[in-house]
Amino acid sequence: MIVNIAIDGPAGAGKSTIAKTASKELGFIYVDTGALYRTVGLNALRLGKDTKSADEVVPTLEGLDVSLRFVDGEQRVFLGEEDVSTAIRQNEVSMAASNVSAIPKVREFLFDLQRDIAKKNNCIMDGRDIGTVVLPDAQIKIYLTASAEARAQRRFNQLKEKGINANITTLTQDLQERDRRDTERAVCPLAPAEGAKILDSSNLTVEETVAQVLAWYKECLAA
Ligand code: DC
Repeated sequence: MIVNIAIDGPAGAGKSTIAKTASKELGFIYVDTGALYRTVGLNALRLGKDTKSADEVVPTLEGLDVSLRFVDGEQRVFLGEEDVSTAIRQNEVSMAASNVSAIPKVREFLFDLQRDIAKKNNCIMDGRDIGTVVLPDAQIKIYLTASAEARAQRRFNQLKEKGINANITTLTQDLQERDRRDTERAVCPLAPAEGAKILDSSNLTVEETVAQVLAWYKECLAA
């Protein structure tokens, strides 16, 4: 039997860290769906499009080749034959991704790709609408969240480790702006799925959060 675990939640809640660690423990693949929206956003930016405009973005989907490949269990995202896994992490691409993800045709364009992977693989898939729309039948649905302050602090620490100086107030404002866009958009807004388990990681370590995910998995197997 194929097992799918869906993890949704706001930016910076630690979805990728938790999903990556838990998937290694379980021998599942980890699918980061944000990378797909980022790739569509990156491509639109490169073409000089206004990423908020459906009229400008939708034509860029024509013939667009976005794919995920898994190398030693690690996800890489490709735009045609170009590995854009690093390029999509730039700050301006985050906002572009949030913008293009509000366009229904962009979401439709990426649905089948996500569902095909989940159909064929035991996976933990993270995003904003995985439990609600992409994989409503996932055996385990988790809504991972944390306070805006805790999320901004984590991002600040990550950047600091990389030697990048950031401003905590700006980081908090950026996160809140993305939260607002992701939760208020008309299509597939960020929200806990029906039956989702809510996991607030504000005061939990990565180990404690992963342990909770694994405990739910065991519970699910035993049920
Ligand atoms: O998870 P992330 O920060 O890499 O995602 C980038 C943007 O993509 C985010 O602002 C919202 C959007 N997104 C989405 O709408 N649905 C998903 N399943 C994943 C991401």
